[in-house]
Amino acid sequence: MNQEKREHWKSQIGFILASAGSAIGLGSIWRFPYITGEYGGGAFVIVYLVCIVLIGIPVMLCEFALGRRTQRDPVGAYAALSGNNRFWKLVGFMGVASGFIILAYYSVVGGWTIAYTLKSLTGQIAQFTTPDSAWQEFLSFTAHPLWPLFFHAVFMVLCVAVVYGGVRKGIERVNDVLMPALFVILIAMIIRALTLPGAGAGVEFFLKPDFSKLTAKAWLIAIGHGFFTLSLGMGAMITYGSYVDRKTDLWSATLWIIFLDTAVSMMAGLAIFPVVFAMGADPAGGPGLIFKVLPAVFNKMPGGTYLWSTLFFFLLVIAALASGLSLLEVVTAHLVDKGYDRKKTAVWAGFLIFLLGIPCSLSFGVLSEYKIFGRNFFDTLDYFAANILLPLGGLLVCVFVGWVWGSSHSFHEIASGSEEVHEHKHKWLKCWSFFVRYLTPLAMAVVFIVSAGVMKVE
Ligand code: TRP
Repeated sequence: MNQEKREHWKSQIGFILASAGSAIGLGSIWRFPYITGEYGGGAFVIVYLVCIVLIGIPVMLCEFALGRRTQRDPVGAYAALSGNNRFWKLVGFMGVASGFIILAYYSVVGGWTIAYTLKSLTGQIAQFTTPDSAWQEFLSFTAHPLWPLFFHAVFMVLCVAVVYGGVRKGIERVNDVLMPALFVILIAMIIRALTLPGAGAGVEFFLKPDFSKLTAKAWLIAIGHGFFTLSLGMGAMITYGSYVDRKTDLWSATLWIIFLDTAVSMMAGLAIFPVVFAMGADPAGGPGLIFKVLPAVFNKMPGGTYLWSTLFFFLLVIAALASGLSLLEVVTAHLVDKGYDRKKTAVWAGFLIFLLGIPCSLSFGVLSEYKIFGRNFFDTLDYFAANILLPLGGLLVCVFVGWVWGSSHSFHEIASGSEEVHEHKHKWLKCWSFFVRYLTPLAMAVVFIVSAGVMKVE
């Protein structure tokens, strides 16, 4: 598709908010706070920031540059710059497939957050005052054969409805509302959390630096998380980059997106842990923290369930929805660039992803005994996408940009639109080449080897 016909973001801010929306997701809100607390608090935050510089910034720039240069979906982008090479087209296709797979199970969890928002609002959650009773409720809800599927469908319908509207009227417009709303809710929650008596212990758990916990494993977790939370490695940012016009400053947009994602992750920690500690509960990880500890904890707070629990789950709905959209957009953009109609494609893709999500959802209930190499269907998809497809996609995008497209061509793409980069061209070009040809691919290769399970690190 040529540059004239392709739809572009209306403003640079719209582009930044949409990409930040993709990045800020369940990963930022429920995973980052916990791994930070676990792996050394403030010390881990420093490591994380180093990893963001090492990997986050370069890979995101690679993806944006590829997208803007070619104005195509991931498959088309790789094809255009590799002389239609089969291998690289396959790499692009791997990204589209990852979008399809990740959204199938992401949407199941997105559905849970919608259900929990409603359960909070109607006061159902109010009955569960201990973590154990909240956990029982969670287990029986997710094992139910119908309700989780219904909410999974609702989540998919919302994603489809937005992508159906197109880049400006759908994705950009919705993110322009969702992202500010997310910040307002988070800030309200932080103020409440920090003013609870005993909140200090939570802040201490979250941020007190403990350098003895910075093991090799902590570094790998930081790199892996940085990568997942920024939505890299599957062409989401190639796709969003393909809607960027030549006047936009990719460099400053990248810094903004990364700043926003990191800020939300930190804020989530400050909103969650003080509450957990002030209410005398144990911090737990992942789904345990969100669906077990928090409901019980909110119930002990003044105005508990109705206000704080509803707000918190609504925050998760927003975060999950903005990420879910971008996953569906990758699949849709690929088919639209092949000549299909956007509206029909969005509906069909959404429907097929919904179908793949059904066994994911049922793996908490009727299909829980059904295991593939020891994992249920949900975990299998998650493992395959997050541990294999994404790190491999990230490694290959660097190799492609650094070695096939070339560091100087890609650099010129980034410099166009950015005065800052343009001004210090010579210095920055050397730095860019070093990162994108050597340092970042090397770091990605290590992550890939470890996360695919070829090598174990303790
Ligand atoms: N960044 C999202 C989160 O933090 C998850 C995610 C990973 C994602 N890769 C993605 C979202 C690609 C959209 C597109 O939860």
